Amino acid sequence: MSRIRQFRWDDYDLVTDVWRQAGAEVITRAELEAKLERDPELFLVADAEDAIAGVVMGTYDGRRGWIFRLAVHPAYRRQGLATRLVAELEDRLRALGCPRINLLVLPDNDAGLRFWQSLGYLPCPDVLCTKPLTTP
Ligand SMILES: CC(C)(COP(=O)(O)OP(=O)(O)OC[C@H]1O[C@@H](n2cnc3c(N)ncnc32)[C@H](O)[C@@H]1OP(=O)(O)O)[C@@H](O)C(=O)NCCC(=O)NCCS
Repeated sequence: MSRIRQFRWDDYDLVTDVWRQAGAEVITRAELEAKLERDPELFLVADAEDAIAGVVMGTYDGRRGWIFRLAVHPAYRRQGLATRLVAELEDRLRALGCPRINLLVLPDNDAGLRFWQSLGYLPCPDVLCTKPLTTP
């Protein structure tokens, strides 16, 4: 059975493979370094001995928790792994005092939406707005 634990740098290549297999955007080492300086305990993997079976990343801004980049390798799906990853992340966010978690799902990701709804994450009507911050 897979063990849920905090990410270690020697997981990186296997984690990027899980993201690629799931069609998720890969987070670069440089971006990850910045994230891990803030809250390394919120980046979790499902360790399947010689493989990484799943991954999830959380953040907490002091008011809301956010979940990003949840992915399970296709060979390990429908075994409750994503549910366990999210449950562990929720426990860790709860321990930090986080009262609510938000996340984003692409509107055409039916499986993803069904998964999140199975855990009680309900769609809300807000629309994501975004702007890159470039150096002047
Ligand atoms: C979504 C994803 C993370 C689910 O991982 P998983 O480990 O297979 O999920 P679980 O086994 O914990 O599923 C729990 C429940 O979610 C629902 N669910 C999960 N995958 C589903 C699917 N493909 N279709 C419909 N419902 C699904 C079911 O209710 C399932 O319970 P059941 O297996 O008893 O029916 C995985 O399919 C994945 O990596 N997808 C590609 C990346 C992605 O979409 N990530 C989410 C982005 S927001």
